[in-house]
Amino acid sequence: MILVSGGAGFIGANFVIDWLAQPGAEPVVTLDKLTYAGNLENLAGLQGDARHTFVQGDIGDSALLARLLAQHRPRAVVNFAAESHVDRSIHGAEDFIQTNIVGTFRLLEAVRAYHAALPADERAAFRFLHVSTDEVYGSLAPEAPAFTEQHRYEPNSPYSASKAASDHLVRAWHHTHGLPVVTTNCSNNYGPYHFPEKLIPLMIVNALAGKPLPVYGDGRQVRDWLYVGDHCSAIRRVLEAGRVGETYNVGGWNEKTNLEIVHTVCGLLDEWRPRADGQPYASQIAFVTDRPGHDRRYAIDATRLRDELGWTPAETFDTGIRKTVRWYLDHADWVARVQSGAYREWVARQYAGAAAG
Ligand code: NAD
Ligand code: TYD
Repeated sequence: MILVSGGAGFIGANFVIDWLAQPGAEPVVTLDKLTYAGNLENLAGLQGDARHTFVQGDIGDSALLARLLAQHRPRAVVNFAAESHVDRSIHGAEDFIQTNIVGTFRLLEAVRAYHAALPADERAAFRFLHVSTDEVYGSLAPEAPAFTEQHRYEPNSPYSASKAASDHLVRAWHHTHGLPVVTTNCSNNYGPYHFPEKLIPLMIVNALAGKPLPVYGDGRQVRDWLYVGDHCSAIRRVLEAGRVGETYNVGGWNEKTNLEIVHTVCGLLDEWRPRADGQPYASQIAFVTDRPGHDRRYAIDATRLRDELGWTPAETFDTGIRKTVRWYLDHADWVARVQSGAYREWVARQYAGAAAG
């Protein structure tokens, strides 16, 4: 089986669902602290599936980690657990330091002890896959080539600095302690179960609620967007065939300005859920004060992943964004529970009288 930390968040939940949908998939234990970003409802479709076990807990809890590893004996750990929102990291970085740095350190230590005690064949097959971001590389000038794995680390936000620190720890645990690690650095994801504090889901839910669509600064910042299902397939492929100690950039060659993104979302909503007054959703766009230290451009060169491991994304931006907007239109109940906070009662309600899992 595999242990997935942070599996109740946006990408982690998509990964667990997609993993178990593969033919012959090994079972999964999901470990998640269920912070505000963790939503067990994302995994509701797996209830009653004997191949999935959920455990609520912190990657910083060494005793819990030792117990879980000894009990379930995973052949891989995939670490998604993190504080992930740049704007929150600007308001307060404490949780980012604790989870992304200290938590990753504790997880690495627990996995190191577990790995060292494995029989030789299991030790050789074991992998620790660390899920990271392109934001560790900093910001690109407009015409600069996309980030390769050789790009120097130049994180600019408390979030990206904490992720960069975690990447360095993972690297060091390989070089110093021989832990068989692989790291992926992915561009911006979008798709189902994305918490509506991030650009794309925020624009969809605000548009439908008749609220302003807050575009930071001039809206001409560039992000490289990848459909979440393609990120999940990349992680599966790296876990399967990635070289130990290596890092792999993951991206979809899909650079867009934020304004392009917002106009695309508005256009799809105009088509599928036109406003009652006939006005375009783009009329709700409001330019607001820019994010401090706002990175101007990210772009990923995923050539290594494509040439070495044969991975390519299945979705274009056009197909991925249509699926995404459609998903939000079809899951108004999920959005409502996230916005009201009711999703946080899911564990208590769903597991009343029984331990989660
Ligand atoms: P998310 O915020 O939606 O989910 C994070 C999950 O981690 C939540 O379920 C949360 O409860 C859990 N968590 C937080 N602290 C924890 C702790 N101490 N112990 C256990 N669980 C904890 O984030 P996401 O967008 O799904 O991102 C997942 C990972 O992918 C992160 O490491 C992020 O840096 C990375 N990443 C994200 C993107 C993106 O566009 N969202 C792109 C590249 C990389
Ligand atoms: P975000 O989804 O927070 O991801 P990241 O900062 O990790 O790339 O933001 C994506 C881009 O959208 C980023 O340039 C900031 C911008 N943005 C807005 O213009 N308005 C918003 O309300 C949000 C949340 C983001």
